[in-house]
Amino acid sequence: MQQGPASRLSVNRARIGHKVRYALRHPRRVAPHLRRACRDAWLRLRHRGGHVAYYRAVMASDTARSPEAAVGGAPSRERWLAIGQMQFDYLREHGLQPHDRLLEIGCGNLRAGWRFIDHLEPGHYYGIDISPDILIEAKKTLVRYGLQHKLPYLTPVDDLKLDFLPDASFTVVHAHSVFSHSPLEIIDECLAHVGRILAPGGFFDFTFDRTETREHHVLGEDFYYRTETLTRLAARHGMTARFMDDWERLPHGQSKLRVTHGA
Ligand SMILES: C[S@@+](CC[C@H](N)C(=O)[O-])C[C@H]1O[C@@H](n2cnc3c(N)ncnc32)[C@H](O)[C@@H]1O
Repeated sequence: MQQGPASRLSVNRARIGHKVRYALRHPRRVAPHLRRACRDAWLRLRHRGGHVAYYRAVMASDTARSPEAAVGGAPSRERWLAIGQMQFDYLREHGLQPHDRLLEIGCGNLRAGWRFIDHLEPGHYYGIDISPDILIEAKKTLVRYGLQHKLPYLTPVDDLKLDFLPDASFTVVHAHSVFSHSPLEIIDECLAHVGRILAPGGFFDFTFDRTETREHHVLGEDFYYRTETLTRLAARHGMTARFMDDWERLPHGQSKLRVTHGA
């Protein structure tokens, strides 16, 4: 049963009561969930260097099985294309121009990235990701769409300090379905540093899994935040975050915030 928006926002997936009810409603999902829980526990044991090391291992394991599924759950080409199109259309409707300079945080295998690269002038797309495995898949996507002449940058990162990028260099920063997999320290680190690389008048859009109940996570993979937590975090770093109501109308389970300089 698909959850409506109201129940989606009020459910705490980490609670045992929810897990039992969910298992009774979806008995076929119990075995895959348990397999994933065991795999994640094993990866956590092997990669004790913090969340990035652990999540990089999750991505390596998921990418080996299916790059499409690794960036979006369902291993379907149609879904991969549709979610990329949705991200691209949204930014186009919000004024993305070929001369913009776009940084995509957590670019994955370029589900949206290939469309951005196609649209932007050569050298105007910069994709970063913690997972070398998914960046290798990103290069395959680039080849599949014949976009080599656009000379995009694709760079692995260990953190979101963005210290290797120049000041005020990006008019648009985009992170889709990245903070939905990030503990708060990582979002904080990004918000602390993104202002430096954002050009005057530029904006940083990111999606997040929204909850209106207690903040929680599932398996250390999926994180649910209240909007106020993230807007307050942005304000602490001198940035303003605006809730994007028009994104809510799209068929996507996450919400979107837009962060800009100052008030
Ligand atoms: C669900 S996928 C989405 C990929 C892409 N944004 C898209 O919409 O297809 C999340 C991506 O973010 C990357 N990622 C997760 N945490 C990250 C972090 N702290 N810094 C950079 N990339 C990260 C993962 O490796 C993965 O490629």
